[in-house]
Formats: sequence, C-alpha cells, structure tokens
Amino acid sequence: MEFHEILQMNMGNKNLDVLKNIDFIENIKEFGIMQQLYRAAIKEVRTKLEILDEEFQIKYDHSPIHHIEYRLKSPQSIMDKLIQKDVEISTQSIWNNLSDVAGIRVICNYISDIDKIAAFLVRQDDITLIRRNDYIENPKPNGYRSLHLIVAVPIFLSDSTKHVKVEVQIRTIAMDFWASLEHKLKYKTQDEVSKVIRDRLFDCARSITQLDLEMQSIYEAIKADQE
Ligand code: GTP
Ligand code: MG
Repeated sequence: MEFHEILQMNMGNKNLDVLKNIDFIENIKEFGIMQQLYRAAIKEVRTKLEILDEEFQIKYDHSPIHHIEYRLKSPQSIMDKLIQKDVEISTQSIWNNLSDVAGIRVICNYISDIDKIAAFLVRQDDITLIRRNDYIENPKPNGYRSLHLIVAVPIFLSDSTKHVKVEVQIRTIAMDFWASLEHKLKYKTQDEVSKVIRDRLFDCARSITQLDLEMQSIYEAIKADQE
C-alpha cells in the first residue's frame, strides 16, 4: 500500500487540505522523475556530439564544434509555455506538448560544420529525427539563422525505456553572437522596439551571413594550400 493511501485511510475525509498536499507531493515527485529523464537525454546527446567532435579532431585535424551549451527548461518557463499553448498543466502534458524541455546548443566554427554535425547525429541508430527546421536555408523574417532539430533519444531505465525529446540548435559563432543580442528584444513588444533597431539587426544578420561564407572560403583556401 502506498504511503498516501495509508494516510488517507487513517484520516477519512476529515482533512482535505492534507490530501491536497499529498497530491502536490506526488506531482512534485513525478515532475522530478521527468526532469531526470530530460537531464539524462541531454547527457546522451552531448556525449554523442562530443564523440563526433573528437573523432573529427583526430581524423581530420579539425574540430567542427566550438563549444556546446545546454539547459533544462525551468519550471516557470515550462508553466509559461503550457499556458501560452493553452494545454493542460500536468507532467503528461509537458511530455506530449513540449519539445524543448531539454535544450542543447551546438556552436560550430564554420557553416559547413553545421550540416555535417546534424547529419552524423541524425544518422545514429538510436536517434529519431522528429522535426528539422532549417532557418539557415530559410532565415526568419528578423534575420535569425540556425538549424533546429528535435530528436528523440532512448533512455534505458531499470524497468523501461523512454524516448525523450531534445531540441538541438546548431549555429556558427557569428549566428550565435547575433542571436544573443537579438534575444534581448524578446521581452519587448513590437512597438517598444524601433524599426531602426530592427533594421540594423537585420543588416547585421546579412553581414554575418557574408562573414560566415567568407570565413568558410578562406578556411578552405588555407586547407587546400596545406595539402
Ligand atoms: P518556441 O515556441 O519559441 O519554442 O518556437 P517553436 O517551437 O516554433 O520553435 P522555433 O524553432 O521557432 O524556436 C525555438 C527556439 O529557437 C527558441 O526558443 C529560441 O531559443 C530560438 N529562436 C527561434 N527564433 C529566434 C529568434 O528570432 N531570435 C532568437 N534570438 N532566438 C530564436
Ligand atoms: Mg522553444
């Protein structure tokens, strides 16, 4: 018999508040178990990316990944997103409706590294590609560029296997530089940000695209010289 059932038997229905507290504790426990799954999924995908990067470094003397960032979405942001999506607030609903609870950002050195890393990751037997949004091929209207993948990775537990979703954003250092500055506008409304600022950022996005392409081209020229 579960702890809360014993408590419930002993109390009858005398104190509903206590029962509510028990429910609350159960929910927290369930939420904690879910967070552990997402943490495990981040670890798995990070390790896969690091292994790919190390292999490249050894084989081709080139490290495609500059660095990796990751985060578990905070309970507050999870709540905000559920409300924004107008869906139920429960652990099951998080599982069904959110795909970015576990987030990994891969910052690459050159544009050509992005597709390589994405392809090698998605090709792995235990990785399922759920969604691919290529905002490099098709930048957002504000100029945002990045490759977004939603993948599922199996997490092997003592008594079951869970397929956990992870959002992987892959971009160059320059694209990341741009996105961090643009992100500062996130909490401002359209009216609060002048068109001048938005236009300047858009122009920066264009310059950054040129810069990324030129850096790639110089890198290839240097490599060809060395061969
Ligand atoms: P969300 O509901 O925001 O997750 O959007 P979505 O599910 O349609 O996914 P999308 O691929 O558009 O964006 C997911 C994430 O990419 C965001 O949470 C941001 O981290 C990042 N992102 C997307 N668009 C922008 C942008 O215009 N600027 C910046 N700085 N980041 C962006
Ligand atoms: Mg998101």
